[in-house]
Order: sequence, then C-alpha cells, then structure tokens
Amino acid sequence: MALLHRSWRRWPPVAARHITHAPAWITAALRARSSSSGAEKIEERQKLLMARGIPKQKMIPGVKQVIVVASGKGGVGKSTTAVNLALGIAANDMVVGLLDADVYGPSIPRMMNLRGSPELTNSNLMRPLVNFGIVCMSMGFLVEEGAPVVWRGLMVMSAIERLLRQVDWGQLDYLVVDMPPGTGDVQLSISQNIPISGAVIVSTPQDIALLDAQRATEMFRKVNVPVLGIVQNMSVFQCPKCKYESHIFGADGARALAAKLALDVLGDIPLHLKIRETSDKGQPIVISHPDSSEAKAYLRLAAEVIKRLPTPPCVSSGKV
Ligand SMILES: Nc1ncnc2c1ncn2[C@@H]1O[C@H](COP(=O)(O)OP(=O)(O)O)[C@@H](O)[C@H]1O
Ligand SMILES: [Mg+2]
Repeated sequence: MALLHRSWRRWPPVAARHITHAPAWITAALRARSSSSGAEKIEERQKLLMARGIPKQKMIPGVKQVIVVASGKGGVGKSTTAVNLALGIAANDMVVGLLDADVYGPSIPRMMNLRGSPELTNSNLMRPLVNFGIVCMSMGFLVEEGAPVVWRGLMVMSAIERLLRQVDWGQLDYLVVDMPPGTGDVQLSISQNIPISGAVIVSTPQDIALLDAQRATEMFRKVNVPVLGIVQNMSVFQCPKCKYESHIFGADGARALAAKLALDVLGDIPLHLKIRETSDKGQPIVISHPDSSEAKAYLRLAAEVIKRLPTPPCVSSGKV
C-alpha cells in the first residue's frame, strides 16, 4: 500500500500540475496513467514477493527429464495416457519411471498390475515397484486398496515431496508423472519443486473438459512449465460390427482448443473397449496388443512427446 500512496503523490508530473483548468480528457488521461503506473508497481512487487516464496527447484537425483500428464478434469484418461505413454517411450529403448501423483485416487497400481509395499534401501529410500520394465511409485502402494486418503492440502504436499524424493528412482531417462485432476496444491507443488521438461494435456473433445484443459494449460504457463501439446482422447468410436464412426464426446474440440492456445495436437486416441478393458486388467494396450491401431496411436504419441523434448544429456541404452 505504501508504494501505491507514494506513486499517487508523485502524480501528476510537475508540468501537468501547472495546468490549472485542464480539460476533462487531460485529467482523465493523467488519472489513467497514474493508476496504471501504480498498478504496474504493485504487480512488480507481487511478482517479487511470489518469487521469494517459491521453493527452489531441485532435480531428482538420477532423473534426466520429467514429463507431467495433466488435465483440469477427472475421468478424461490421464492415467491411461500416462501408463501407455510411459510404455511407448520405453519402447524407444529408454529407461522410464512412472509416478502416480494422484494421492486421493491412485490408479497406477491397478493399471500397471502392481501390488505390495515398497522395500526400504539402506539409505532409507523407498524402492519403486517394477512391471513391464517401468519403475512405479504410488500412494496406492502405501495404503490399502480402496482405503480413502483423508488429508489436508499440506499433508498431501508433503506426501508428494516424499514420493518424488524419498524414492530410489535409479537412473531414468524419463519420469512420467500422472497428475491428479485440477489446478491445485499438488500441481503447483510439483511444478515448483522439480524442473519439468514438459506437460502433456489430456482432454476429451467436449466443451466441459476443454474448459478445464485450458485452465490446466494456463496454470502451467504461469509457472513456466513448457506445455508440449494436447492429447485428444476418446474422440472417435468405431462400431466393432458395422465400423460406423461416431463422435460421442464431439469431433475436434481438442484440435480447436490447441489452435486457440497455439499448441500442437500430440495424438488422437480413439474411444475403444480394448483400451478400457486392458487398463482395468492391468495389461496396458501398448504391452498386451502392441500391433493394434490403438496401441499404435499411443506409440505415435510417445514419439511426438520425445521429439518435443530436449535430448537428455546422456541417453541410456539399458533397460530396468
Ligand atoms: N481412449 C479410451 N478408450 C476407452 N476407455 C478409456 C480411454 N481412455 C480412458 N479410458 C477409460 O476411462 C476411464 C477413466 O480413465 P482414467 O485414465 O482413469 O482417467 P483420469 O486419470 O483422467 O481420471 C478408465 O476406465 C479408462 O480405462
Ligand atoms: Mg487418474
């Protein structure tokens, strides 16, 4: 406030103060100028204060690049995309990890067919569980399946910090993070704690999901996380009998949003029974039906994502 007062006192500038009967338009213009200058200063000060409050970003030891899979909305296919994207990237001879950051509704244990609690290493780090060559960590490994996590924001943020850092990730080319829905504490805390190479936004083509996808995009841009593009999920359904194609959630909504936000469409994943079934069974389609057109859609997505990321300093060739 003090800043605001001072800047107001300085206005109007000396020359203007000598105009005793200034026309109304001049006084209005001066008022506008003075208030915008005050507002700019306040904005600068707010930025400074916010920058001071933001924790310093620290790399996760051994992890070369972090990709977050996000959307504003739940149920649009983030986890399914994160799982198949991780497997698709791994198919390019990369070592990949998967972090389930959806503390309230972890899906990765089920989708990756993993159960059990992580062991502790000698240095007291949690050892991730592994399946299909992907190292995974999830809140779901630490609580009973189906048990609710009833935590306030601060506890969730501290859990996220642990899931990120108190894990023996080993050497990873990519860590794919399956984000919870929304643009809240978890998203902010991850974005501010670790350097993120890129965010992949998942949306169905319907307006209500697109609106939230836009919010998620704007949030990442605000915290300087590069948004790699949008994945249009469940855009087309082909009748298995007559092959007629219907656009249950709309046809090209994500494409239109991508154009509006100057983003690329990274992939178009059809709505397909096999994708749902294989996810539920813990046999992701990229692994269980690698030659299907749906798996190929995920593999194309993985290639698009890798293409848009800077090459890791030293790409490993070994597998987990
Ligand atoms: N392209 C798709 N075709 C068919 N079912 C899908 C597709 N994508 C996701 N699903 C299903 O939709 C449901 C919600 O997906 P999920 O990945 O859990 O969404 P989110 O993580 O955004 O909440 C799951 O049952 C999943 O199997
Ligand atoms: Mg999910």
